[in-house]
Amino acid sequence: MLKATFLGHSCVMATDGEHNIIIDPFLTDNPQATIRAEDITVDHVLVTHGHRDHLGDAVPIAKNNDAPIIAPNELAFYVARQGARMHNMHIGGAHDFPFGRVKLTIAHHGSAAGDNLEYTGNPCGFLITMGGKTMYHPGDTGLFYDMKLIGDMHPIDLAFLPIGDNFTMGIDDAIKAVEFLHPKKVVPIHYKTWPVIDTEPAEFAKKLKDMPVEVVILAPGESVEV
Ligand code: NI
Ligand code: MN
Repeated sequence: MLKATFLGHSCVMATDGEHNIIIDPFLTDNPQATIRAEDITVDHVLVTHGHRDHLGDAVPIAKNNDAPIIAPNELAFYVARQGARMHNMHIGGAHDFPFGRVKLTIAHHGSAAGDNLEYTGNPCGFLITMGGKTMYHPGDTGLFYDMKLIGDMHPIDLAFLPIGDNFTMGIDDAIKAVEFLHPKKVVPIHYKTWPVIDTEPAEFAKKLKDMPVEVVILAPGESVEV
């Protein structure tokens, strides 16, 4: 069993009933957030890239919980310089953690952190196998054809896909991503947080109605189980 809770924008918490992880914990200053960073209890923190709407509260949450931050190498060393414990990985690599297995996937995007946009290496996505189920969180990315390879090599029970356009895939590209990844369930993310990414999840769902996928639209705080 894997239960994933959407916490607004691109932030997802996941549990197998025993272990708890959080991905891209942008809560402070997130207009969609319904929970405070201080109230998060997790074993591990996963961060796809250094942009503030993803790195967010990762360092304070990691410190409060004595939880390592799993991130691409350059970003992992950045959070270590802020005093957080880290586990550095890189694209194509997988590792078995107490909660499950994490594999880093490519993402077509940028990665920089802090007010001076300090370079934090390549952004990534995460393929996470936990509670016997596999979940894909691509981070911020444009559509890429290797999603077909990811979907063919790893049966995906649950995929979170950005649909907001401007910074990431928009709706039509995200639909192509669903075709490539063929997940059982898909949850749209990274939309409506700000006016520039004001796309409609209902349009995404409508355009997928004839495809063999269940579209689950989650309000911040809501969960899906696979
Ligand atoms: Ni970004
Ligand atoms: Mn973003």
